[in-house]
Amino acid sequence: MTLFKEKSDLNKKIGYIKEKNLTIGLVPTMGALHKGHLSLVERSLLENDFTIVSIFINPTQFNDKEDLANYPKNLTKDYDFLKVISDDIIIFAPEISDVYDKNISVKKFDFQGLDRFMEGKYRKGHFEGVATVVSRLFEIVKPNKAYFGEKDYQQLKIIQQLVVQYRIPVNIIGCKIIREDDGLALSSRNSKLGSHSRNIASKIFELLNYCRVHFDSMNLDEIINHVNIFFEKISEIELEYFIIADSETLIPAKEIIKDKQYRAFVAVRLHGVRLIDNIELN
Ligand code: PAJ
Repeated sequence: MTLFKEKSDLNKKIGYIKEKNLTIGLVPTMGALHKGHLSLVERSLLENDFTIVSIFINPTQFNDKEDLANYPKNLTKDYDFLKVISDDIIIFAPEISDVYDKNISVKKFDFQGLDRFMEGKYRKGHFEGVATVVSRLFEIVKPNKAYFGEKDYQQLKIIQQLVVQYRIPVNIIGCKIIREDDGLALSSRNSKLGSHSRNIASKIFELLNYCRVHFDSMNLDEIINHVNIFFEKISEIELEYFIIADSETLIPAKEIIKDKQYRAFVAVRLHGVRLIDNIELN
């Protein structure tokens, strides 16, 4: 396995790969790797000659300084985690100066409304930061395919839209959410949960799953009513949003229209840790 910290070194490797007409799969991450990230890496290994995992805690996508400061960081551990999987993986852990010029600014994007609700609404500027870093990584790595998890479903949709709109020649592959046995979606932030919070956190999936199971038999008001009662009962959970939205447009549903696809999206804070999750409803 190779670790590149310098863009210039990676460039040489990419030049070699492209010269031989071999394919590159990119898995962009912020590190603190877990089995969720791993599912993306494994899929890329299957589908490409080379897999590049980028590890970069992108400052511009954090709207909360404390969240950025507390974000788990351990490159050695991540290296060891991936080394066990395959020797064919290339890690790219760039310096901030490889990604941004001096003023660390974000680009302006037109996300066609996909950023209006949920994370786009509650984390102002978040998706500009994500799209800036991801498009820069595409420029540097020139991947054939790039892998994103449905865990960040809105992010996945925005990146899919971005490559079409800006004609970036990358095939975006969406991957299913990997969960713990009790349903909690794997996340780098889970390590910040104490054992009490960790137990409560699994209730989020229980709620999402309840909505999925009852989606055909309950109407929207009944579901939302159930959700409100659920959150009233668990005082430790601070609800940021719970939204049922069209899976394609990400516009919150006012009524359920037959033949459309819907997902439920939730964001909460649990003793200071922000957790997000979502589920396909039909
Ligand atoms: P990060 O949170 O590290 O996630 C990297 C990728 O792993 C994302 O595509 C995310 O959706 C996926 N992922 C995380 N947990 C998952 C799970 N439980 N199951 C399946 N996939 C999961 O998302 C980011 O980093 C950043 O915004 C990034 C795209 C790297 C840009 O900075």
